Amino acid sequence: MGTQQSQEPQESKKQARGTGRRALLGAAVLGGAVLGLSGTAGAAGAKPAGRGLRSLPVPTIIGHRGASGYRPEHTFGSYELALDLGADIVEAGDLVPTKDGHIVCRHEPEIGGTTDVANHPEFADRKTTKVLDGVSVTGWFTEDFTLAELKTLRAVERIPANRPHNTLYNGRWEIPTFAEVLKWQDEQTRKRGKQVWIYPETKHPTYFRKLGLGLEERVAKLLHRHGKDKRNSPVILQSFEPSSIQRLNKLVDNPLVVLLSGATTRPWDFVEAGDPRTVADLITPKGLREIAGYAQGIGPTLDLIIPKDANGNLTTPTTLVADAHKRGLVLHPYTMRNENPFLPANFRKGTDADAYGDVFGAYRTYFATGIDGVFTDNPDTGLLAREDFVNG
Ligand code: G3P
Ligand code: CA
Repeated sequence: MGTQQSQEPQESKKQARGTGRRALLGAAVLGGAVLGLSGTAGAAGAKPAGRGLRSLPVPTIIGHRGASGYRPEHTFGSYELALDLGADIVEAGDLVPTKDGHIVCRHEPEIGGTTDVANHPEFADRKTTKVLDGVSVTGWFTEDFTLAELKTLRAVERIPANRPHNTLYNGRWEIPTFAEVLKWQDEQTRKRGKQVWIYPETKHPTYFRKLGLGLEERVAKLLHRHGKDKRNSPVILQSFEPSSIQRLNKLVDNPLVVLLSGATTRPWDFVEAGDPRTVADLITPKGLREIAGYAQGIGPTLDLIIPKDANGNLTTPTTLVADAHKRGLVLHPYTMRNENPFLPANFRKGTDADAYGDVFGAYRTYFATGIDGVFTDNPDTGLLAREDFVNG
């Protein structure tokens, strides 16, 4: 690859666009409000209708890091199982850069928890401590490895205590690049005779930009090279940092989603810019109106849809679904998981950390709020829950 400067397209090359894309996702909101409940076109089991996001069933089942409930996350094994199980979109992947400017699929730059890097003596001296978005993290970081070096590693299960069976697959798959994912998407679309959708996320974009490894231009360049930077392209882009989505909005025409963490948190780009607003400010009518100016959806933590009480039980839904829909924004909250510790307390069964709780009850409760989709580590339970929901 050339220098970073020469790799990055000028933002001015993109024409001013966006209203058409917003209108398209607005139709998906209608899909959530009408199709999902009526069980007609766009709903579970029905024939897709129309182009773009209107072709997605509602509530949309998004394979979180693939089918990470069953396979080590962000591997082609996990992504393909998500498709086998019937996920409507695969989160392929969370995107971070390498030292030599390639984009790879890992949930965070630190790879000690999801690869076998600790077993590679040749990389022992790369272990270090860094401050990542204000938090001290010790381990190995993608930005300190070339792609060729990362390709010598193999993925492992992140949470073996909750998912002991997944360790069976430790060492089987390498770290995918985003370029490989874009090719894989086409291959899988051909093989399955059905358009495969992906839902990549820019991770820690401000942190990486300060290192000279800006994510958005690299991602846009790859999308453009594959002809997947259009408003009808089967690629939705997401980020926790609004400025990353605003930057992407100038580079590509894909549907864009702003992720929202807990109400009291601040996106890291806000912290860096001295912007005092928190997520609570972003979900006010004013904040949502502003987001709707450059994005087509939000991806809130499920707690912003239904808060929990001090004991971890679900309480009363907030007005966020109605407020966001009013501004034409789709809601794709995160993350559903089958295991007890990740479910609201009132849907747990026993206390075993690797046992499944009443996940269908939890889906039912969240779907009833009118959300347009959900990220889930277990696409199969999400799909069964949608079937129950749509069929009443
Ligand atoms: O991107 C939706 C969801 O994945 C956000 O959470 O931390 O798993 O990327 P995270
Ligand atoms: Ca993610």
